[in-house]
Amino acid sequence: MSDSSSSEFRLPLEGKLAIVTGASRGIGEGIAFELARRGASVALAYTSPSSEPQVRALAERIRALPHAAPTFTVQADLATTEGPSHLIMNLQAQFRAAAHTGDGVAHPQRPFVIDILVNNAGCERVVPLGQIDVADYNEVYDVNVRGVILLTQAALPYLAAAGARVLNIGSVGARAGFQDLSLYCSSKAALEALTRCWAAELGRRGVTVNCVSPGPVQSAMLDKIPAEIVEMQKAQTPVQNRLGTIEEVARVVAALAGRDGDWISGQVVSASGGWAMY
Ligand SMILES: NC(=O)c1ccc[n+]([C@@H]2O[C@H](COP(=O)([O-])OP(=O)(O)OC[C@H]3O[C@@H](n4cnc5c(N)ncnc54)[C@H](OP(=O)(O)O)[C@@H]3O)[C@@H](O)[C@H]2O)c1
Repeated sequence: MSDSSSSEFRLPLEGKLAIVTGASRGIGEGIAFELARRGASVALAYTSPSSEPQVRALAERIRALPHAAPTFTVQADLATTEGPSHLIMNLQAQFRAAAHTGDGVAHPQRPFVIDILVNNAGCERVVPLGQIDVADYNEVYDVNVRGVILLTQAALPYLAAAGARVLNIGSVGARAGFQDLSLYCSSKAALEALTRCWAAELGRRGVTVNCVSPGPVQSAMLDKIPAEIVEMQKAQTPVQNRLGTIEEVARVVAALAGRDGDWISGQVVSASGGWAMY
């Protein structure tokens, strides 16, 4: 039973350490802020040096919350084979240093334990089948699939003994057929299968693995999607025929990251206002 006088209702993720990849902008920025708003310490992962000011601004915004949630910032290119392990090692070093100095970590005595891993970083290429080359394939699959596998593998030894969450950010595109987006949509379909297999594999240690699949949400990525696809999706979205907001997607992720997600695993949750092609 939950104690109604506890801070669980105010800060349901207090004491948890979360990693959010692609936290510099768009949906990842929103997820990182929402997890922090609910009390988690959040590692903000990004890759482009040009994104550093945005990440620092997000860290400031989080520190300005009434509970001044601690943050870490980690730069790592998840498209490389070393990037994922570098991210975990760098974060571990920062966490230990902060725990040692007592600076910025809510519970300084805590060992390095990852409670929530949000595999959000992703990229897309708009390219017709006849023009796909190996570089296009590598660009999309190295980040959207291999990067997620290697990062989750690198995090595995540190996942909380019970109750850890792995949340993969997919896309409604995984179940759709969008012209010129076969690389992107198929990479997101792979994430759905990874989610189900890892849920089966990690369940015995109390880890849940789920996939949250957004419909279209305004972001730098959406700006590159052909306008007719986005308009078609809006027209087919039952809830108000509109785009989703970053906050709407972030709240779905944060709910699954908390105790409300205890008994949900191996699922694909569509955060899309009811959009469904198949
Ligand atoms: N927006 C939508 O409509 C929509 C719909 C369905 C699904 N999604 C999914 O939601 C997630 C976020 O999308 P978004 O729209 O917020 O995208 P976005 O604005 O383009 O942001 C992408 C993020 O991924 C990071 N990233 C890209 N390549 C990386 C790499 N090699 N290593 C590490 N990080 C990398 C970027 O970091 P830097 O800033 O450092 O480059 C950035 O933070 C993606 O997985 C996307 O597929 C989005």
